[in-house]
Amino acid sequence: DKNDQIEHILGKFKLSKECLHKVMELLLDEMYKGLDPATHDKADVKMFPTYVRSLPDGTEKGDILALDLGGTNFRVLLINLDSGDIKVKSKVFLIPQSIMTGTGIQLFDHIAKCLAGFMNAEKLIQNNREYPLGFTFSFPCHQKGLASAILANWTKGFDCSGVVGNDVVAMLQEAIERRGDIKVKVLALVNDTVGTLMASAYNDQNTRIGLILGTGSNACYVENLDHVKTWDGDRNDPKQVIINMEWGAFGDNGCLNFLRTDYDIEVDKTSLNPTRQIYEKMMSGMYMGEIVRLIILDLWEKELLFVGHRDHSWSTDYRQALYTKGSFYTKYVSEIETDSGVTYRHTKSVLEQMGLDRPTYDDCVIVQYVCKLVSRRAAQLAAAGLAVLLNHINAPNVTIAVDGSLYRFHPKFKKNMEKAMQMLVHPHIRYQIVLSTDGSGIGAALSAVTAPDYKDYKT
Ligand code: BG6
Ligand code: GLC
Repeated sequence: DKNDQIEHILGKFKLSKECLHKVMELLLDEMYKGLDPATHDKADVKMFPTYVRSLPDGTEKGDILALDLGGTNFRVLLINLDSGDIKVKSKVFLIPQSIMTGTGIQLFDHIAKCLAGFMNAEKLIQNNREYPLGFTFSFPCHQKGLASAILANWTKGFDCSGVVGNDVVAMLQEAIERRGDIKVKVLALVNDTVGTLMASAYNDQNTRIGLILGTGSNACYVENLDHVKTWDGDRNDPKQVIINMEWGAFGDNGCLNFLRTDYDIEVDKTSLNPTRQIYEKMMSGMYMGEIVRLIILDLWEKELLFVGHRDHSWSTDYRQALYTKGSFYTKYVSEIETDSGVTYRHTKSVLEQMGLDRPTYDDCVIVQYVCKLVSRRAAQLAAAGLAVLLNHINAPNVTIAVDGSLYRFHPKFKKNMEKAMQMLVHPHIRYQIVLSTDGSGIGAALSAVTAPDYKDYKT
């Protein structure tokens, strides 16, 4: 019957324990490839050493600016660190679509303009003091130092020309100099995962992993230098470095094809970066709603969903909504999954907002089921990634710092992820998952403070 047909279509979204173990095995292989100079160039999971080697201990002090680019919001922040006490002022600025896919010069001029606007409003220009800045730049970079980072490729919705292969710290510094009206020195660049880890380490010395589940997905962790064969810096104490994994690119060589569905393939094809970021596309916020839309559309075309609506006058609205790319926002998945009773209040309201009027009870049940399978798969895939890291780090007690809109706003993501982790992490390892809200901006400031040049700015 109809339910069996739906089950059959959605079957691939249910991942078995064996399948998750296979994912873990593959990811661990990819990690070793990324860390070895002999295989690094061909590796998908790049495992970039970040040059962040010491974690904050809560004694740091100073006024530091930060920029946070690459998530839902672009923000400028002013962070006051005072031996354990943190004060943050921040402002969100818009990055127009035309700039996200324009030239790099335009992008960095825009960023510098927002920075100057913020400094003016906060009266940081009048005192003629030079401010240190930490830059959270949430894209894959090959770092040459704390303040030198070559963009490897764009991900998510960005595609500015003339940046790949160039040093983004230098490009930002040049844009600041071009303006001539602000005195700012960019001291550190960090990925958002690294910022998240650093901010959590400020309060919790067991923090060893930073995870982002937002527009994109990625993780970083503290690695023993002996494992980092690509490391070209000194090997003195502390014998560790944070590795920005860029795990979103896991699967780009086809190794995850055994679990990808036709919907995943379609999402990839119509994206800005086809064939890239395969793991990320199965689990992050930028793509989740679109996976759900494609499934719903397929069920409609197979006459398994919204059955009573096709011959009505409003069926044109249905077509319009279902066939429009991006019409099903990822936040809808979270809203729909908050419905626990039989009224399906949120589910109805979401469908009506989309132009899918008068959904029946059955329609709501099916749509919620689709959301549940897609978001649970994402949580399980993230759990597999975390389990690889926890088993590899093999420390008795590890804190995982997490941020990102998907994790924050989805009502069941954390629970589903933890459930899968229980099955995959070695039983002797204890871990806590903590939300590190706005961590990446604070983490960038903390990284700037650990920069060798920082002493010049101490007040
Ligand atoms: C936050 C940051 O920590 O998490 C963002 O401030 C970052 O810049 C983000 O990229 C990830 O979440 P999202 O949902 O905004 O992509
Ligand atoms: C993308 C970026 C990565 C970032 C992640 C989360 O995967 O490539 O650098 O950490 O999104 O924002």
